[in-house]
Amino acid sequence: MRFQTVFVAIVVAFALVIGAFLINRQRPKVETEQPSAALVRASGRCAECHYRQQYSVVHEYEMSEHARRGVNCLDCHQPTSSQKGKEHHGFIITTQITPGNCRACHYAVYDEFLRSRHAAAAWAAIYGAKGLSAEQVAYGEKYNPGYVNRPPHPFTTLEGASAMTSGCDQCHSVGRPNSDGTIGNCTACHTRHTSSVAIARLPHTCGQCHLGPDHSQMEIYTESRHGLLFDAQRRLLNLEADPLKLTTRDMFVPTCATCHMSGINGLKMTHDPGERLSYWLADAISRKRPDYIHAQANMKEVCNQCHTAPLIDRVYDQAEKVVEATNQKVQAATDLINGLRKDGVLTGKPFTQPIDFVYFDYWHYDGRTAKHGAFMGGADFVQWHGNYPLVAKMVELQSMAAELRAAHAHTH
Ligand code: HEC
Ligand code: HEC
Ligand code: HEC
Ligand code: HEC
Ligand code: HEC
Ligand code: HEC
Ligand code: HEC
Ligand code: HEC
Repeated sequence: MRFQTVFVAIVVAFALVIGAFLINRQRPKVETEQPSAALVRASGRCAECHYRQQYSVVHEYEMSEHARRGVNCLDCHQPTSSQKGKEHHGFIITTQITPGNCRACHYAVYDEFLRSRHAAAAWAAIYGAKGLSAEQVAYGEKYNPGYVNRPPHPFTTLEGASAMTSGCDQCHSVGRPNSDGTIGNCTACHTRHTSSVAIARLPHTCGQCHLGPDHSQMEIYTESRHGLLFDAQRRLLNLEADPLKLTTRDMFVPTCATCHMSGINGLKMTHDPGERLSYWLADAISRKRPDYIHAQANMKEVCNQCHTAPLIDRVYDQAEKVVEATNQKVQAATDLINGLRKDGVLTGKPFTQPIDFVYFDYWHYDGRTAKHGAFMGGADFVQWHGNYPLVAKMVELQSMAAELRAAHAHTH
């Protein structure tokens, strides 16, 4: 019947239109929404192959703000003027991506990052000034004097190259020098293809590196009231909130990023966490930073978005007393070691005698942990992972020193 044929034809045509629409929706957004023909070609063709080869790469990218804003694969993967290009299926790409590939669009962020200790100082902590250009050393020294122009860490030779590559480098590469003259690695916090602020705001993202006995920030946070509430209320937080509009309605519980980086309720956001730190807590003896007053005011202003001044001042008063007391304890241990060296009882390079390791653990593990715990709500870390081992190890140091002196007197 004629009517039936027409009906079938209409149904088939409609199905085809719907089908085409559905298929089109499955394609990478950039391909369908990009205004420029060249860009459509670029992302569409990269994605077409890589969707099959590495689904996860394309999928992570498709969920990103970049995909929504039409930033495509080639925007990141094309070589900058200081990078080597490589022919790749009709495109010229770079396979090593650095902040140089983000800088053109995020200049201010890179600039701030470069001043921070996540940049050159992080690398110099292992390898010293080696590998950094004279300009990079000068720039780093301007913002972090004494922490960039320094010798390589003794462990680089003691532990050997493979331990550096698979150990230290993995964390300290956050500030690695790249062959194109840039420094660092933005994807340490943002990941490669999600380019996500939500991920950067998660405690575990910082906790990839900020953990363990020498910098137990992750463990301290987990046991703190803040960490407890984060676990309990995580799904109620708006981790995706636009950084420029972030308020305490989105993040009513702080994560590492909230206190150290975010611009909550209109405060200044920063990629230099040093802007809010008033002490050098990682050092054996913690001194006040040059901008102590300003930096402390910055952090207290963050606390003040959720707390009142008496609580904040109480935390700081108590923590500063822990810093002072720890400094005295570490000074006493340092005097003991220096005395042994001065009297010729302890000779040779550092890290060749058992007492060197006890002394190193004394300030590097226990002293630091006590100070960090005091500022970030970790009572157990001030006490059982901090002050208790400080007491026990002082006894050990004194007993080792006495033995060394006795043996020395015997042979001289
Ligand atoms: C015709 C298919 C095809 C196209 C088009 C294509 N790729 Fe690839 N690409 C591949 C294959 C296959 C590999 C994996 C090679 C391997 O496993 O050794 C690869 C590898 C890569 C790598 C890793 C290279 C390395 O040496 O580390 C990157 C990065 C990459 N592609 C990015 C892109 C980008 C960006 C585009 C678009 C500008 C693109 N690809 C277009 C097929 C393609
Ligand atoms: C925001 C910048 C950015 C965008 C956009 C981007 N990439 Fe990447 N991509 C990176 C970074 C960074 C790496 C890691 C490179 C390195 O190791 O130096 C990477 C690595 C890769 C790799 C190697 C992955 C591996 O684990 O071996 C492939 C393949 C790749 N990208 C394909 C793509 C494709 C396809 C697109 C678009 C759908 C895309 N990228 C979009 C930044 C980007
Ligand atoms: C071609 C320009 C361009 C390049 C290249 C680029 N971005 Fe972006 N990026 C944007 C735009 C546009 C936005 C959205 C507006 C904004 O938040 O600044 C954005 C947003 C972001 C965001 C915030 C995402 C969010 O959820 O709010 C992060 C993080 C980011 N980019 C990191 C990177 C990193 C890391 C690289 C290099 C590996 C990079 N971008 C390369 C243009 C770019
Ligand atoms: C798990 C990640 C990780 C590994 C592995 C690691 N570090 Fe660190 N390191 C950090 C973090 C995070 C800090 C910051 C501590 C702080 O400020 O409390 C740090 C701080 C330091 C500091 C003190 C800061 C400074 O600039 O003086 C030195 C020195 C240092 N690391 C050297 C090394 C060396 C050498 C190795 C390998 C033997 C190493 N680190 C391995 C994460 C790591
Ligand atoms: C130590 C971790 C870390 C590193 C390294 C890092 N970021 Fe971020 N970034 C963050 C956090 C956390 C936020 C979100 C702050 C907030 O809560 O609003 C952010 C926000 C951003 C934003 C969105 C805000 C804006 O200004 O538009 C961009 C873009 C960005 N980062 C780019 C970069 C680039 C480019 C690099 C490398 C030069 C980089 N980030 C390195 C942690 C990091
Ligand atoms: C890839 C590893 C890595 C990640 C991820 C990382 N950091 Fe760091 N961070 C380091 C290292 C290494 C240092 C010590 C650098 C040095 O030698 O001074 C450091 C130092 C710091 C400092 C001390 C800065 C100063 O001025 O003394 C703060 C605060 C900090 N990080 C906070 C964060 C926060 C918050 C995050 C997550 C948003 C984060 N870090 C993610 C490796 C990392
Ligand atoms: C409630 C706010 C808050 C939270 C949450 C928080 N911190 Fe802190 N953090 C502080 C304060 C306050 C200090 C000490 C500031 C000073 O020196 O004046 C500090 C010190 C540090 C330091 C010591 C830097 C140095 O001088 O060596 C590092 C590193 C650090 N925090 C990383 C982290 C990481 C990683 C997390 C999450 C796992 C985190 N913080 C969570 C407030 C916070
Ligand atoms: C984004 C909001 C937010 C920020 C920022 C914040 N806190 Fe909190 N804080 C909380 C919440 C919520 C609690 C849980 C209060 C409760 O138990 O009801 C809390 C609990 C505490 C407690 C435990 C109170 C008690 O008596 O049990 C201390 C101490 C504390 N915060 C100190 C600080 C300090 C110091 C800062 C800044 C370095 C800070 N907080 C930043 C939200 C915040």
